[in-house]
Amino acid sequence: MENIRIRRMKENDIPQVIKIEEDSFKYTYPPLLIMQILSSFPEGFLVAEDERNERIVGYIMGLIEWGHGHIISIATSKEYRKRGIGTALLKKLEDILFKKYNVGYIALEVRFNNREARRFYYKRGYKDKRLLPRYYEDGTDAILMVKRNPYIEVTNTPVIVSMW
Ligand SMILES: CC(C)(COP(=O)(O)OP(=O)(O)OC[C@H]1O[C@@H](n2cnc3c(N)ncnc32)[C@H](O)[C@@H]1OP(=O)(O)O)[C@@H](O)C(=O)NCCC(=O)NCCS
Repeated sequence: MENIRIRRMKENDIPQVIKIEEDSFKYTYPPLLIMQILSSFPEGFLVAEDERNERIVGYIMGLIEWGHGHIISIATSKEYRKRGIGTALLKKLEDILFKKYNVGYIALEVRFNNREARRFYYKRGYKDKRLLPRYYEDGTDAILMVKRNPYIEVTNTPVIVSMW
C-alpha cells in the first residue's frame, strides 16, 4: 500500500475508472449511469491513486438504498492486485456506511462463478444470503452477499432482498 492513496472519486477520474472496469468485467455500467450514481452519493465512490504517477489503480462504488448499504462495483487494476488495495477500498467504504451512516448491513451481488471475488468477500465478513437466478444479462446467477454492521450490537434489521 506504499504510495497508494484512497480518496473520493472525482468526475475526471471516470475515464480511468471505466478502463479498469472494462479490463475487469465482461459487462460494464454505462458511463452516464456511473455519473448519475456518483452525483447522488459522492461519498460512496472511492478511488485508489498511485501517488507516484497520479494513476487511478482501483475503485469502489457504493451507495445507500432503502436504508442499507449496497456495493455496486469494486475492482483493482490487474497489475496492482494482491497488494491490499481492494481491502483498503472496502474498509474505507465500510467505515463510511457502517460508522458514519450507521446502516444495518451492506449487500452486494457477485457472479456465482466469480470465485476469487466471493472468497475475497467471505474473508471480509460477507455471507451468502440468497441465490439470484439469471441475475445477469448473460444468464449467469448471482449470489446476494450481506455483511451486518459489526458496530451495532443487536440488530433486528430485516435484510430486504427485493422490494418488488
Ligand atoms: C476482488 C478484487 C477487487 C480484490 O482486489 P485486490 O486489490 O487484489 O485486493 P487485496 O490485495 O486487498 O486482497 C486480495 C488478496 O491479496 C492478498 N494480499 C494483500 N496484500 C498482499 C501482499 N502484499 N502480498 C501478497 N498477497 C497480498 C490479500 O490477503 C488477499 O487475499 P485473501 O483474500 O486470501 O486475504 C480484485 O481481485 C479484482 O479487481 N477482481 C476483478 C473484479 C471483481 O471481480 N470484482 C468483484 C466483483 S463485484
